Parts: sequence; C-alpha cells; structure tokens
Amino acid sequence: MRDFVKRVTGKISKLTPDQIQRLFDVLNDEAELLDAVFESLSTGLIICDSQWHPILINKTALRHIPLNTQGAVNACVWELVDDDNMADFLKANSATQKKYISEEFTLSTPAGAVRFVHISVLPLVRSKKLSGYIVQAEDITEKRNQETLIRRMENLASLTNLAASVAHEIKNPLGAISIHIQLIQKALKKARQGDGVLPDKKYVEKYLETVNEEIDRLNQIIVDFLFAVRPVHAELEAVNPVAQMQTFIDFVKAELNQKHIVLQTEFIEKAPHIMLDTKLFRQILNNLVQNAIAAMPEGGVLWMSAAVKNDRFVVSVADSGEGMDEQTVSRIFEPYFTTKAQGTGLGLTMVYKIIKEFGGDISVKSFPGEGTVFAMSFPIPQKERRLLEYSGE
Ligand SMILES: Nc1ncnc2c1ncn2[C@@H]1O[C@H](COP(=O)(O)OP(=O)(O)O)[C@@H](O)[C@H]1O
Ligand SMILES: [Mg+2]
Repeated sequence: MRDFVKRVTGKISKLTPDQIQRLFDVLNDEAELLDAVFESLSTGLIICDSQWHPILINKTALRHIPLNTQGAVNACVWELVDDDNMADFLKANSATQKKYISEEFTLSTPAGAVRFVHISVLPLVRSKKLSGYIVQAEDITEKRNQETLIRRMENLASLTNLAASVAHEIKNPLGAISIHIQLIQKALKKARQGDGVLPDKKYVEKYLETVNEEIDRLNQIIVDFLFAVRPVHAELEAVNPVAQMQTFIDFVKAELNQKHIVLQTEFIEKAPHIMLDTKLFRQILNNLVQNAIAAMPEGGVLWMSAAVKNDRFVVSVADSGEGMDEQTVSRIFEPYFTTKAQGTGLGLTMVYKIIKEFGGDISVKSFPGEGTVFAMSFPIPQKERRLLEYSGE
C-alpha cells in the first residue's frame, strides 16, 4: 500500500479520479490501522508538538494520567494534567531540555485505591529534527504489588526463623520445669506410701526454686522476643556524636578500670552534627562495649574513635579480645545467636536495627586471638558537610 502512495506522490495532477479515490482509500486504511494500533497499546501516549501542545492522546493515557481535556485549546500538556506533582514534573521537563527523563507517581483513584504510574518523556524526532515530545505513561501498580508481596514473604520467612529459634529457646526451660515437677511428685508420692514422713522440705523447696527460675527465664525469652520483633522508634535530632560518646565513656569508665581494660580514644576535634536518637545511640555504644568487655576477661585495650571519612561519620569500637572465626562473624547479627552461656544473642540484632534507623551501616573485622573491630558509618547532613568543606576537613 505504501508503495502505491509513494509512487503517486508528486503526480497528483496526472491521476485519474479513480486513482485519486484509490489513494484516499489507501490513506484512510493506513490511518485507521495506525489509529487502532495507537489505541490498543498498553502504554499511555500523549504526542505533543514542539510547544508541548498535545496533538494525539490514546485511551490508555486517559486511564493512566488524570487528564482534563475539556476546555483549554492550545494548552500545554501540564495544564491539562489534574495532578500537581505530575504537572510540575512535565513543566520542569520542558524547562531543562533534557532528552529523556522519567519518574514514578502515586495516584489515588476516586474509589480510594492507590496506583503507581511511571511517566517518561521522549523527544519526537522527525527528519532528524526535534518536532515534539512523547509523554509515555505506564501503570506499574501490578509490578509494585508484586514487589511488596515478595518483601512481605521475606519478612515472613525471617519471622519464621525467629519463631523457630524462640521455640528452641523455650524447649530447655520447659524441659527443666517438667523434670523438677516430676521430682516433686515423686518425693510426695514416696512420703505418702512410706511411713507418712513428709519429704525433706529442703529438696522440695530447691525443686520449686528451680521451677521458678525457669519460669523467669521463659518470661525473659518472651520479653526479648518482643524486643527483637518490634520496630525501633527513633526520634532523630541533630547532635554532636562525640559529646554523646564522651558522656557514655564517663558512665562506663569505672567498669573498664575494674576489669583491667585500658581505654584509648581518638576523636575528631570539630565533629559535625548528625541525626541521631541519643538514647538509642548510647544503647549501640553500650552493646558494643559490653561485648568487648566480655571478650577480654583478662583485661586488654578498648579503642574508640570518631572521624569523618568520604562524607560519612565513622565511629569505631575495637578490642584486643578473643576475636571470632569467620563462621561466627557471619552470624553475629542474627537474633538469638550467642556463644555465651548467659547471652541473649539480641545485643547486635538491636545494634543493627538502630543503625538502620539512623541510615547508617556497620561492618566487622575480627581475628581469632587478636581482637575485633566494629566500624559504623552514618550520613552527615548536607548542611554540615558544607561546613566541613569550609573548615577544610
Ligand atoms: N567484641 C567481640 N569479640 C568477640 N566476639 C564477639 C564480640 N561481639 C560480639 N561477639 C560475638 O557475637 C555474639 C552475639 O553478640 P550479641 O548479639 O551482643 O549477643 P550476646 O552478647 O548476648 O551473646 C556473641 O555471643 C559473641 O560470640
Ligand atoms: Mg551482647
């Protein structure tokens, strides 16, 4: 068909009425076909001229973009968009002259459902010249929902792990309680069957005491479990982290002294303020330092430092203690992982959760028999970064 159109173009004056009729039919067919394709696309399209006036809008675009096509003749595309964020985005696009920009938008339908729409702008090039713009709209709600589902399933999987560890933790105290109750029963039975002499009160009391202790342990497991699954709520404020560290050191100094641990510190002089929850920050330090103390039963050296590195605020806590092998290191942040007889295995889980609340990261280096280094890094707010640049840090 196109061949025919090409052949006759430029020769209109020589065509017979029949041939002209045929030409129109062909062009009509072609236009109808393109129109059908345009309308059946699952991507919403708004074709604009070089002044951003819409010339063609397909039905899908009307579904994906809240458009107000009534009225305004010769309006720019953003004037028709009934969503402020989307309109601003398109307008900003026209100003920057960038070739390709895209962004995701959240829209709520009149029915109250939430939809995610991805909008991108492409140049419309004809005969090697920019002749307009194509606004593309894709509904990515389905994709997003899928992602949420996967994330939820992952959470559920880790919750299942956690539940499995709790079940494991509960087993021991329950077993102990059961054994001690049996012992008490046996003693009572013996007393009944025998000469009526009551069982030695001392034993029964001891068994009961054990039962009580195990109940306490069960209770602690539940309390710890709740603590592990509950999200931490951080109230962030801009604070001087070094001042916080100093306050913490004042609090822990005596204990270090008593345990023959020498403290060495190296703190940046003019620390930038960073966004922290002071109580939770001190909880991080306390967990790390308590672990370090436990790793140095014979005493040793504890290092604490604070510095600015690559735009991040880096705090490290290191010890000259027993260290860990690789396998241990790979598990320390898991809830309930502990190598201590009286450990909860939740200290570092909490540390990790809090650091994530602060937008930070934590890394560990450890060598068996030599010691361990925990390094944390926190983002420094833009404003503070500029101050650092001025002062030449
Ligand atoms: N500084 C350290 N040196 C050696 N081992 C450590 C250190 N910090 C943590 N660990 C290991 O990580 C485990 C988990 O730590 P944590 O979550 O605080 O639980 P807990 O202290 O109750 O055992 C510890 O049992 C220990 O094996
Ligand atoms: Mg601990």
